[in-house]
Amino acid sequence: MRVVILESAKQVSQRSAKHICQVVEEIPSMTLGLATGGTPVGTYREMIEYYRQGQVSFAQVTTFNLDEYVGLPRNHAQSYYTFMHQQLFEHADFEQSRCHLPDGEAEDLSAACEAYERAIDEAGGIDLQLLGIGTDGHIAFNEPSSSLASRTRVKALTRQTREDNARFFDAPAEEVPKLAITMGVGTICEATEILLLATGKGKANAVRDLIEGPVTAQVPASALQLHPHVTVMLDEPAASRLARRDYYLHVEALQLELEA
Ligand code: F6R
Repeated sequence: MRVVILESAKQVSQRSAKHICQVVEEIPSMTLGLATGGTPVGTYREMIEYYRQGQVSFAQVTTFNLDEYVGLPRNHAQSYYTFMHQQLFEHADFEQSRCHLPDGEAEDLSAACEAYERAIDEAGGIDLQLLGIGTDGHIAFNEPSSSLASRTRVKALTRQTREDNARFFDAPAEEVPKLAITMGVGTICEATEILLLATGKGKANAVRDLIEGPVTAQVPASALQLHPHVTVMLDEPAASRLARRDYYLHVEALQLELEA
């Protein structure tokens, strides 16, 4: 696991967007796994900037989002469908038919989950998966106690997650949907490469448990310790509870020297 500690959230956005755009440049028809939430918004802004400056095209990229609320209409202001269109897709040359999100309105939700897994397979799997992390250690909406082998399915959100996400709904936690379709931990871990971003002091405990804690279903993000190609990009506050912070900084400095 590569741990990159940067001074600010802005640097996390810049560095992550640069990496994603480099991969797209190398493999224009790559498959990109995307996340919602507050953390990747700055990354998406930077990706749009690369596109506007003519440095990257997403026209051949296929995308799969991690999750979607169950029961929210697609065009609801807080659906992840709306979020992705507003924050990224409509500002660059993404081909709509290749941008996938789970169908939270499906009559048969388990069939929709199976279809999502099939679509990922048919696209040849995910080349690069972008992730955030919940304050309770979730990735996508795999809440604590999720099987580390889980596949795309419906999950009940924890009280903590609904409280954390109430800020987007501008409403009390009770109004945040109780269920979501989410890629499983097993699905996520099949991506060739994973890039997890975390910023802010509120993520410091989850980040410590992800990187330095035991691998446990109580912290679904800890499953990433078993993946061969993971980069965790953090700002200083998110890295503030890491016991080996100085070592990670030392290793990263050596890595950058090697890459120069
Ligand atoms: C979103 C997702 C979630 C978020 C996590 C952090 O698609 O899968 O796991 O990444 O809840 O959210 P923010 O970035 O809002 O703190």
